[in-house]
Amino acid sequence: MGHLLSRWWWGGDPDATSPVSGLTLRQVYQVQRTWRPVNADAGKYGIELFLRLFRADPETKTFFKAIRDLDEDRIKNSYRFKAHAINFMSAISLAVTNLRQPEVVVAMMETLGESHSKRKISTKYFHETKDVLVGMLKNDLKLTNDQMMAWETFISFIYNHIFDKLYLT
Ligand code: HEM
Repeated sequence: MGHLLSRWWWGGDPDATSPVSGLTLRQVYQVQRTWRPVNADAGKYGIELFLRLFRADPETKTFFKAIRDLDEDRIKNSYRFKAHAINFMSAISLAVTNLRQPEVVVAMMETLGESHSKRKISTKYFHETKDVLVGMLKNDLKLTNDQMMAWETFISFIYNHIFDKLYLT
């Protein structure tokens, strides 16, 4: 009975892994719940994420024409850059929100892969972005190991499909 109730509550077996995303329903819930506070302050976290990325690898800054010659204080005050940071966060949010229909997320990520392929952004920079995001979730937001596992699986899933359309390595 408890088992049936749990399935009903989750809308399926909470521990079955989706063949498309590699995530269980419990992990989908973990990713969605832990993303909420970050998304609520998308501009702040997005800009902070990019500033950390630029510090970790200054080469990444060169892709952003509007701010590549600006120092950190000016970047923080650039509306154009804030708009980009929010675009980035919104793309993650769309993927997070739609994880229960992972095929839709696949299509969204392929489109992102195509747009970034045109900009010649290679996987190396995506991996560096991932490291910064993971560091932020772990150290600033104090996510647990289980929650971090769910995030690692989620990022691998979306990256696989971005990379499918990225013609560079
Ligand atoms: C998970 C990783 C990433 C996500 C979700 C993401 C998301 C986005 C989105 C939604 C846009 C605007 C729409 C579009 O053009 O597709 C965008 C634009 C852009 N992205 Fe990314 N991006 C990611 C990684 C990167 C990386 C690693 C770089 C370079 C180091 C990069 C550089 C750019 C540039 C240069 C633009 C254009 C900015 C502008 O128009 O001012 N992105 N990104």
